[in-house]
Amino acid sequence: MTKPVMSVTAGRLFALSSFALCSLLFSAAAAAEQFQLQSSCPASFEQVVDEQGASRCKLVSRYQAYDSLQNKGVGGTQTALPTVRDGFSPEQIDLGRFLFFDPLLSADHSLACASCHQPDKGFTDGKAVSTGFHGQQGKRSAPSLWNVGFLQRLFWDGRATSLESQALGPLFAPDEMANTPAQLLGDLANSSEYVQLFRQAFPKDPATTPTLAQVSTALSAFQSTLISLNSRYDQYALGYHEALNDTEIKGMNVFRSFVARCAECHTPPLFTNQQLAVIGTPEPEGRAFDLGAGNETDKVKLQGAFKVPSLRNIVKTAPYMHSGRFTELREATEFYTKGRGHAVPKDRQLLIHWHIWEPKLTGEELDQIVAFLGTLTDESLLPQTPTRLPSGLPLPTAAVAIADPMKRPGE
Ligand code: HEC
Ligand code: HEC
Repeated sequence: MTKPVMSVTAGRLFALSSFALCSLLFSAAAAAEQFQLQSSCPASFEQVVDEQGASRCKLVSRYQAYDSLQNKGVGGTQTALPTVRDGFSPEQIDLGRFLFFDPLLSADHSLACASCHQPDKGFTDGKAVSTGFHGQQGKRSAPSLWNVGFLQRLFWDGRATSLESQALGPLFAPDEMANTPAQLLGDLANSSEYVQLFRQAFPKDPATTPTLAQVSTALSAFQSTLISLNSRYDQYALGYHEALNDTEIKGMNVFRSFVARCAECHTPPLFTNQQLAVIGTPEPEGRAFDLGAGNETDKVKLQGAFKVPSLRNIVKTAPYMHSGRFTELREATEFYTKGRGHAVPKDRQLLIHWHIWEPKLTGEELDQIVAFLGTLTDESLLPQTPTRLPSGLPLPTAAVAIADPMKRPGE
């Protein structure tokens, strides 16, 4: 007896639900459209198709026309670049971009990689030491991520040897993003948006929900596209001599000279020779000595050793050194002429690198070096900050300032 009513209701329900279904499909389509990953490579990367028919992005740089550093002298301008991590697909790179900006990756959904590696600060955070989970002070300054795809050692003490192994460090470090693998993978699996994005990026992978290996591949893929090799210095090095003015050229020559010896360690074109070196920079007042790559007992030679950092985009990444001790580039440069080991604590016997000497640079020469370092700026391949995130979470405050040009600090 209730049948007719039922059928009417059912009919209505059907009409309703088909409407609901339509709008659901419609909104799903809209959302899918919104979070469609890029299928072409970023600027400066060439798209090639591998044997399996998949697209891969290969870096194109004029430095690839030069052969190795060997026998060219360390200050040479037309020398080759070290091997770069490339060959990721456009989709993996773009997925990495979303992950990099998404606070979903931290324990309390408040911190993203971009909170400490802010695009408008040369991918640093402008602080002497970073602030991590629940405002905890980190131990060291956040390094720039420009050109990390070339680095064979990562972290100030060189303890990671690949971007993939590095990426999982901050995610699970209690004083950084403080997440756990179980929570991270659970959060990603619960996000229908991320599940479909991971499938776009890893179409041949049988995993049904995102895996840690995929997270670190995507983050590495994105970071390897942060290429900065088209500064005024590069234009000069590649043959356009008007790109630098007289003071900058003088600065470059002091930098490369056997007196200052900067280029022995900060070797062009990357402005690092990728070695660990003990140079004896000071810690801020009251902070314990940082042993760097060494430890108190077995690695005396490496006590106080740090990775030689690249100096590209250096004007954007103050404060300087592992400790963030120097706020100005002039101060960081002057450190080298204040006397070998002048800042080493009295109770420490460090084996200072032999290229750290007493160059007795004049004030004018220091200014010239600083002017030269200013020519190493190139942010033309700055990636786009997403305006919305697949997780639906708001962008971390630091990144919003960049997404909205009205709020850009300092403007
Ligand atoms: C709380 C701030 C903070 C967050 C969040 C953070 N980092 Fe870092 N990052 C740092 C600091 C500080 C270092 C240097 C630590 C050291 O050397 O001991 C670093 C080092 C690195 C390095 C090594 C760079 C080099 O030149 O050696 C890479 C790459 C990196 N981070 C990528 C990431 C990625 C990817 C994420 C997100 C998964 C991330 N970071 C999240 C602060 C942070
Ligand atoms: C023996 C190798 C060596 C030589 C020579 C050398 N540096 Fe460095 N440089 C380093 C190391 C190692 C660090 C990191 C030290 C630390 O964090 O305590 C560094 C850090 C820097 C920084 C800070 C980078 C940052 O990202 O914070 C600047 C600027 C710099 N050097 C400029 C120079 C200049 C200018 C010269 C020449 C006057 C020079 N360096 C000579 C090894 C060297």
